[in-house]
Amino acid sequence: MCGIVGYVGRRQAQEILLSGLSKLEYRGYDSAGVAIYHENVLSIEKTLGRLKGLEDRLDGQPVQGTIGIGHTRWATHGKPSTENAHPHTDCSGDFVVVHNGIIENYLALREELEAKGHRFVSETDTEVVSHLVEDLFTGDLFTTVLAVIQKMRGAFALGVLSKREPDKLIAVRSHSPLVIGLGEGENFLASDIPAILPYTRDVLILDEGEMAVLTQDGVQCYDLQGQPHGKDVFTVTWDAVAAEKDGYEHYMLKEIHEQPRAVSDTLRGRITEDGRRVILPELAWTSEEIKQFDRIHIVACGTSYHAGLVGKVVIEQLARIPVDVEIASEYRYRDPIVSDRTLVMVISQSGETADTLAALRNAQERGNKVLAITNVVGSSVAREANDVIITWAGPEISVASTKAYTTQLIALYLFSVYLAQAKGTIQGEALATIVQALLELPQKLSEVLDTAPKIEEIAKAFSSWDDAFFLGRGLDYSVALEGALKYKEISYIHAEAYPSGELKHGTLALIVDDVPVVALLTQDALYEKSISNIKEVKARGAHVVAIAWAGDEETQKSVDRVLYVPKTLSFLAPIVLVVPLQLLAYYASVARGNDVDKPRNLAKSVTVE
Ligand code: F6R
Repeated sequence: MCGIVGYVGRRQAQEILLSGLSKLEYRGYDSAGVAIYHENVLSIEKTLGRLKGLEDRLDGQPVQGTIGIGHTRWATHGKPSTENAHPHTDCSGDFVVVHNGIIENYLALREELEAKGHRFVSETDTEVVSHLVEDLFTGDLFTTVLAVIQKMRGAFALGVLSKREPDKLIAVRSHSPLVIGLGEGENFLASDIPAILPYTRDVLILDEGEMAVLTQDGVQCYDLQGQPHGKDVFTVTWDAVAAEKDGYEHYMLKEIHEQPRAVSDTLRGRITEDGRRVILPELAWTSEEIKQFDRIHIVACGTSYHAGLVGKVVIEQLARIPVDVEIASEYRYRDPIVSDRTLVMVISQSGETADTLAALRNAQERGNKVLAITNVVGSSVAREANDVIITWAGPEISVASTKAYTTQLIALYLFSVYLAQAKGTIQGEALATIVQALLELPQKLSEVLDTAPKIEEIAKAFSSWDDAFFLGRGLDYSVALEGALKYKEISYIHAEAYPSGELKHGTLALIVDDVPVVALLTQDALYEKSISNIKEVKARGAHVVAIAWAGDEETQKSVDRVLYVPKTLSFLAPIVLVVPLQLLAYYASVARGNDVDKPRNLAKSVTVE
């Protein structure tokens, strides 16, 4: 999992490559490098660690040249080191390659190449590509790269540059994302759109099994057999500043504050003008088709999996269809019981998570229809699923997912109502009440955001503890899981989410004087039982902060502090509940001096198993 960029044009490549890489650091950041060609010299500069190190080095000694490629790495094969940083070259130094993905048969290829006398300097799978290009070079870079990729198995997005044909870049997409940016007298390649957005809005999103040749005057796309073809230009409508921090100290805080807008955008166009019904124009499903689904499998990872847990409760409650929620890395290796009446739903912010994508493909091979919920229009998941509901959260840069989760929930609510309408399990006023409540959510989210200063205070106090517990029942428990994940991920504090009623079966032993406990209290039917569980932890000395509905005077009698969220329907509570938990994690991370947007050991998009 890495980010790659490329530039060919009339401007100095260094600045453009570094700027592009800075927008891709969310994909990995353990080393960075660029290769730039100028007057028969192919210079490679790489450093271990963040891109900043490379920027500082090149600041004093800029590399000349108007064509180049760059890379920001998240180590898979070979530890983070300068030798393992990309770009990688061959024995002659005439060919350079940047790569995102994994070449599964690299060991066999490496042995073959070493037997022929090629000398390797890194432990990476990528280095086989540059040596293969050298080995198979026919005098024509394009046909050589075509021959090289026939020998490789795995996932790869590649950028290739050669001293022998220094006017062009070759881009290849096979199971890893890649886009081409079209400029005037210049062209770009990148793993993701934000990297090229400062320069152009006209983009070619390469499809699975496509490649392209870029020169300063044009771009030609091909399939992996070398057949040329045309391609539609996708015009990016979102703003470059949408991908910037917008005045916030961290992307995460900006993205938390964007949630009222993201939720509005995800609802837009999906509710009838009279505000009484849901429409999903992207799903041209008939009622007969909907009625034939007798089971749903939701498959996802991490935060998206947590959204799926909420989806299960809501779909079952509204549409009365049984739902199983599965972690993609488990589901893909099971032999799940499905029938042709099972709908498989995958949820993925990035649309590139390897396990989720594999689960999608397995499901299609078994003959199941796959519906995807994703935030990235041109992503692999979006393109391969049978149907897609896009969440309009906009680019999510912070590694910790926030606005993606709330918009995934909105997509799940809309879909649940859509199913329920078709099945007739909710109708009339009950239906209109739900739709109205959905429309009120952006305003309620803004009200929750106003409580940020109080949450900051609590987070500062909690951050000196090495543990925290998040408790809830029903949907409150599903949100507690997400709260605990967020807390662990960025504050590095051990956190556990527990169904409140399960505590006394073991975990209660961990409750000691002053240990922080966050208790969620929005499921009205379970309120009294949850209060009893709170009393159990209070009796053992815990410091309890409750999150409860505005107007609930009762809770404060049983806890140390209450944070209030505006009242909505119980099954919509996750939307307003998760925001204080996101803020709690954020401020705890800041209090601990952590790198909030780039937590250690993690990367934004997990495109390898
Ligand atoms: C946590 C987080 C991850 C992702 C997971 C799935 O904050 O962001 O747990 O949710 O890696 O990613 P997507 O949704 O892109 O498939």
